[in-house]
Amino acid sequence: MEKQFKRHLVTSALPYANGPVHIGHLAGVYVPADIYVRYLRLKGEDVLFIGGSDEHGVPITIKAKREGCTPQDVVDKYHKIIKDSFAELGISFDVYSRTSSATHHKTAAAFFKKLYDDGKFVERESEQYFDVEANTFLADRYITGTCPKCGAEGAYGDQCEKCGSTLSPDELINPKSAISGGELVKRPTKHWYLPLDQYEGWLKEWILDGHKEWKTNVYGQCKSWIDGGLQPRAVSRDLDWGVPVPVEGAEGKVLYVWFDAPIGYISNTIELLPDEWEKWWKSEDTKMVHFIGKDNIVFHCIVFPSMLKAYGDGFILPENVPANEFLNLEGDKISTSRNWAVWLHEYLVDFPGKQDVLRYVLCANAPETKDNDFTWKDFQTRNNSELVAIYGNFVNRAIVLTHKYFEGKVPALGALADVDREVLAEIPQIKASLEHNLSNYKFREALKDAMNLARLGNKYLTETEPWKLAKTDMERVATILNISLQLCANLAIAFEPFLPFSSAKLVKMLNLEKIGWAEFGGSEILAAGHQLNAAELLFAKIEDAEIQVQIDKLNATKEANEAKAAAEKPANAPLPQKEECTFDDFMKMDIRTATVLEAVKVPKTDKLLQLTIDTGIDRRTIVSGIAEHYTPEEMVGKQICILANLAPRKIRGIESKGMILMAKDENGRMRFVTPADVVDNGACVG
Ligand code: 2FM
Ligand code: ZN
Repeated sequence: MEKQFKRHLVTSALPYANGPVHIGHLAGVYVPADIYVRYLRLKGEDVLFIGGSDEHGVPITIKAKREGCTPQDVVDKYHKIIKDSFAELGISFDVYSRTSSATHHKTAAAFFKKLYDDGKFVERESEQYFDVEANTFLADRYITGTCPKCGAEGAYGDQCEKCGSTLSPDELINPKSAISGGELVKRPTKHWYLPLDQYEGWLKEWILDGHKEWKTNVYGQCKSWIDGGLQPRAVSRDLDWGVPVPVEGAEGKVLYVWFDAPIGYISNTIELLPDEWEKWWKSEDTKMVHFIGKDNIVFHCIVFPSMLKAYGDGFILPENVPANEFLNLEGDKISTSRNWAVWLHEYLVDFPGKQDVLRYVLCANAPETKDNDFTWKDFQTRNNSELVAIYGNFVNRAIVLTHKYFEGKVPALGALADVDREVLAEIPQIKASLEHNLSNYKFREALKDAMNLARLGNKYLTETEPWKLAKTDMERVATILNISLQLCANLAIAFEPFLPFSSAKLVKMLNLEKIGWAEFGGSEILAAGHQLNAAELLFAKIEDAEIQVQIDKLNATKEANEAKAAAEKPANAPLPQKEECTFDDFMKMDIRTATVLEAVKVPKTDKLLQLTIDTGIDRRTIVSGIAEHYTPEEMVGKQICILANLAPRKIRGIESKGMILMAKDENGRMRFVTPADVVDNGACVG
């Protein structure tokens, strides 16, 4: 028997307040979390949904320096943008606070102090990079240099944003201070570490033995961390932005952002319910679920639980951590620094009143088991062919026909035909599937269930054709419309967690007071004679032109990024690797050694040489654009490599059969490729 809980504490990752929220955040964390809590609330469960901004960490201080303002200015700006845009999208937090709040500073400092007093940390001195000019230790993010993996300049001490590699400052080539640009020295500094190695056995038991039901991606990541052996983790940093370490001799040190941020869930509960928060955090009757993205798994499954365990005092642990994978945009990784994203606050301006469309598309396409792709074309298709054509169309037909034939009053049910019974029997089945999927964090499947209910309605109307029966059998029309309207009421409930704005609209059209999960599945939600309100369209078609605006916006971003990359790239930097090819692709190319027998300039051109080549299999002509790099005399007698089976082309009226393989030198001059030793002409290269 599954454990029954009295209340549900649902947290969603606190987004960094150093930029707005984008569709990747929404699809991975906030839309699924909101669907889950709305479902629980509809069922009448006691739920608390915690959100807030994560306002510490080095990137915020870097942004402030770059923009010539204080870190507080940065977080004030983005906290407001994020909070307002979440509210507009209908993300129904019970509290949305921030880690720069006084409550959080007090809570996080006290949390650290208790662990410190209880001897739960180990103190260690280590050598860290110090910027002499700026007179400060540098966090990994403040150190930049050349990436050892891809050669990109400007890689950070913790990560290269170009190739995505995780780095440590010691790996960087030519590390420099990002603050002063100056040289770095290493100096000893003291920090506090949470000895995760001491929690390994307990974590094994709690997760690897006790939570085999967690999502494969989450369980797998935990297993590989634990099996790899856990190391003590520093929980403090040398920095002047964050929660000051509350012990003597810790001047200039703050709590590491990943130590204080999850405590933010507790602080925000305290802020909302100062007298009752413990009931939520320290009772075995509370089911805690963390909604996060895959990059947060280690912190929510290993580090934060170890902190709670170390603290003791009855703190509960998460029952589940349904982390999602990542959402890409138009085939490319979402990136804040490359502005490759669909920003929520911009979407809300560009598509006013269409919050549910975004919620629908992001849930239908949620990266639940693997990374997924958002495309604007798919967004349009899902709106036009699913929301408008299926859900909206059914509701509209049912309500409009009721107004047409029964003055907007729910007609009475008459004798039931088989088709009616079948439809009515299917509603509770869909409800059961929805419940199963929602309880198991399978939101895509759950959304499909809700859509199947709308499909059912559409099919029912199409099969029964009440508009034709209206001429002959009004009693039958009454029954069909009664059932259709009951289906509409069921749809309003089924879709509420996913599409709350449309459900509210539908509830209003149906003139219902309010809806609850208990009514879902029923065929008598609307009594005969109940007056409906006027029909309104639930969804509107999205035209190609609106989508094109978004695609143009992304294309402009792409061009700007390419221009920036070209400007930053040294002239002789190697080009990025081309798209992968197969062995078979390669085998198609007939590359051979050959010798130049004759060479003449092609008249009236600066660039072209006409070469007569001995390929070992024949003598042929190749016209090549190398006249600016080699004189005809230089070419004669040289052994070269050619692509022999390139389709012949006419260049300046001369048929050219093949291509000479060339490479650019550091001055941009083309050099032909030649075997290291002379080989027979016609030898295959490969
Ligand atoms: O990855 C992030 O965006 C973090 N700011 C998430 C923090 S979640 C929690 F621990 F606060
Ligand atoms: Zn790199």
